[in-house]
Amino acid sequence: MTKKHSRWTELVQPEDLAGTRGAVFSSLVGSMERASTVVFPDVKSMRERDWRSKTQYSYGLLGTPTTRRLENKLALIDGVRHTLLLPSGLSAVSLIFLALLKSGERVLLPRNAYQPGVDLARMLAVRFGIEVDFYDPLQPEAVPFTANTRLLWVETPGSVTMEVADLRQLAELAHARGVLVAADATWSAGIAQNVFALGADIAMQALTKYQSGGSDVMMGSVSTDDDALHEQLLKTHMQLGLGVSPEDCQLVLRSLPHYRLRYLAQDIAARKLAEWLSSQPGIARVLHPALPSCPGHAIWQRDFTAAASLFSVLFEPDIPQANIDRFVEALALFHIGYSWGGAVSLAIPYDVRDRYPHSGGLVRFYVGLEDVDDLIADVEQALAQTINL
Ligand SMILES: Cc1ncc(COP(=O)(O)O)c(C=O)c1O
Repeated sequence: MTKKHSRWTELVQPEDLAGTRGAVFSSLVGSMERASTVVFPDVKSMRERDWRSKTQYSYGLLGTPTTRRLENKLALIDGVRHTLLLPSGLSAVSLIFLALLKSGERVLLPRNAYQPGVDLARMLAVRFGIEVDFYDPLQPEAVPFTANTRLLWVETPGSVTMEVADLRQLAELAHARGVLVAADATWSAGIAQNVFALGADIAMQALTKYQSGGSDVMMGSVSTDDDALHEQLLKTHMQLGLGVSPEDCQLVLRSLPHYRLRYLAQDIAARKLAEWLSSQPGIARVLHPALPSCPGHAIWQRDFTAAASLFSVLFEPDIPQANIDRFVEALALFHIGYSWGGAVSLAIPYDVRDRYPHSGGLVRFYVGLEDVDDLIADVEQALAQTINL
């Protein structure tokens, strides 16, 4: 396809119809190729096959044409040359750490980073001599760079407390010291922010969320435009055996053409709920990057074009946690569960007293595809039963 269309048009259009026009059977949908063994026509071809090449196939773990189709579409969305697929968002985090860090080198994580990623870094510190330190995502100038710092991890906004970080400034500070920048871009999903334009060298995403869209697939991706970094990531990806199932790729490929429209529609709905919540008694603060009450809101205004439908609220400090737990249980349309990105709305309480010692409990909302007025009515009845007594 010529480059005259937007990436969103290219994403939706089938890839290779031109070549099949006139065939007896031609579908808008690519077929799904499964394999463990890939067979070669002769020994010479077997010896010459390059496992690194994205157009050659040598073993099922390293991908089939279905895997490549999804990788190519994700690279198109990110506007970069290379994307790798992994069995979860967390394994995408682990690939980046394991491919880029070695014993004696340091990774800097934001204090609000996705907790299992932090736990992984701490495990690598204890068992493999990698150093880990933390920084405040709202104070880029205070990031504790050291001579052995190799990687700066950025997650913006944080997926529970929602602080929006200044990726551009963080990347400038890191690059000035020869430090690589990796961004967890799950919240912006390749839609709301271009992390590469702002300076990230590598981006990972949990495709488990909006891209899969059905609350039924786990997958992650790692993208970069840098050939040398890609080589390093690809080699570790192969060595760790981190292949993904073509069936799961097919499920994501099915949801991908409409994930942007879902994201944008859910953004409108979530902002309506967040704004309504801002004026409710019992709610001390709404942590939605598009609202001025969110730390880093000015950065969101400058660097983002949209918002995910994931945000949090802090309750007034005098409201007991037991009432907040009952509030979550009293919701009928929001279900209690981790993750996000599917059709169904979710709510979950988090303990954030380490970050907000003087505030009340936090509840994170994920707004799905229900009618937002029904969601507001649901929150209203749950607040009336448990908080505003
Ligand atoms: C910001 C963020 N990064 C990474 C992950 C990990 O993704 P997965 O659940 O696919 O392992 C999550 C999952 O909740 C997340 O919220």
